[in-house]
Amino acid sequence: MIFRQLFDGVSCTYAYLIASRRGGEALIIDSVLGKVDRYLRLLKELDLKLVKAVDTHVHADHITGLGALRDRTRCITVMGRESGVDVVSMRVSDGDPIAVEGIELRALHTPGHTDDSYSFVMGDRVFTGDTLLIRGTGRTDFQNGDPVTQYDSLFNKLLKLPDETLVYPAHDYKGDTVSTIGEERAHNPRLQVSSVQEYVTIMDNLNLPNPMMMDVAVPANLRVGLAQDEIDARGWSLDCDAAKSLLGRADAVLVDLRDKTERESHGEIPGSVHAPYPELDEHIGAGGLLHELAAATGKRLVFYCAYGERSAMAVEAAQGAGLGNSCHIRGGIDAWIKAGGPLAGGAPPPS
Ligand SMILES: [Fe+2]
Repeated sequence: MIFRQLFDGVSCTYAYLIASRRGGEALIIDSVLGKVDRYLRLLKELDLKLVKAVDTHVHADHITGLGALRDRTRCITVMGRESGVDVVSMRVSDGDPIAVEGIELRALHTPGHTDDSYSFVMGDRVFTGDTLLIRGTGRTDFQNGDPVTQYDSLFNKLLKLPDETLVYPAHDYKGDTVSTIGEERAHNPRLQVSSVQEYVTIMDNLNLPNPMMMDVAVPANLRVGLAQDEIDARGWSLDCDAAKSLLGRADAVLVDLRDKTERESHGEIPGSVHAPYPELDEHIGAGGLLHELAAATGKRLVFYCAYGERSAMAVEAAQGAGLGNSCHIRGGIDAWIKAGGPLAGGAPPPS
């Protein structure tokens, strides 16, 4: 496994670059905008393809690299369902997997620092964001933070992991790089409490100043969605009503770009074919399944995904590959469900 802990000295943030092999797919956790060039250089040096960029929560002390990484690598951005960001490519709930080739993270909703805070468990280690820090815990006094919820996330979720689990936080201000659940249980001063009330008293009396970057970082981090004006202007976007009128038509094929687990959780548009976004290039290139299908039948390719980001990037790529009859559903299956579009399979959509 390739595992790199990448430090940003300005905000004392750790980003984590993970891949199963050289030449394979990679994901990055908690990227920092100012370090994007460095990440891209490292990806190139290690011959990695960035497939997913994941943030543990909306950060207040630095601007996330999610949007820039997506714009420059066409990767999938991922955050929790509770996050207030305008658009990400994929949202996860507690227990959901986040997979790239040979790697699987399991999302653990650990609110408290913010209401959208997630930790990610990967085998022998956990990425704790700002929920559990080394010998500390993330403050709970802004962004819908709540010490009672954080106590529950710490004691009833993170501390339930095996003691030997490695703890990789989003920040460290002293230079520590890694700990374990057992070590934090024994030595983290914030965890030496005998009741939730005792924890709340500690957290309510920290009297910390707001992060210097907060007024800039939070609004910027809430607007990470892909700019799609040009795709709309070129006539490559369909609204849900236009997409509904294509259902059952022989001259169009709906292409679902989401991961298998997203399809299973949220259902799919009836009659659509599945072509996961990370495999798009091979499908739309000459000889690829979608390329040949469109060429042989003249069918219009109608891409869709969860929120319209992957499909917007896909239609741009497909047009570039000569599939001039392709388009996408603006807003993805989220908009489709809100517009009352029919679904096949899947669990009930999240409320
Ligand atoms: Fe934070």
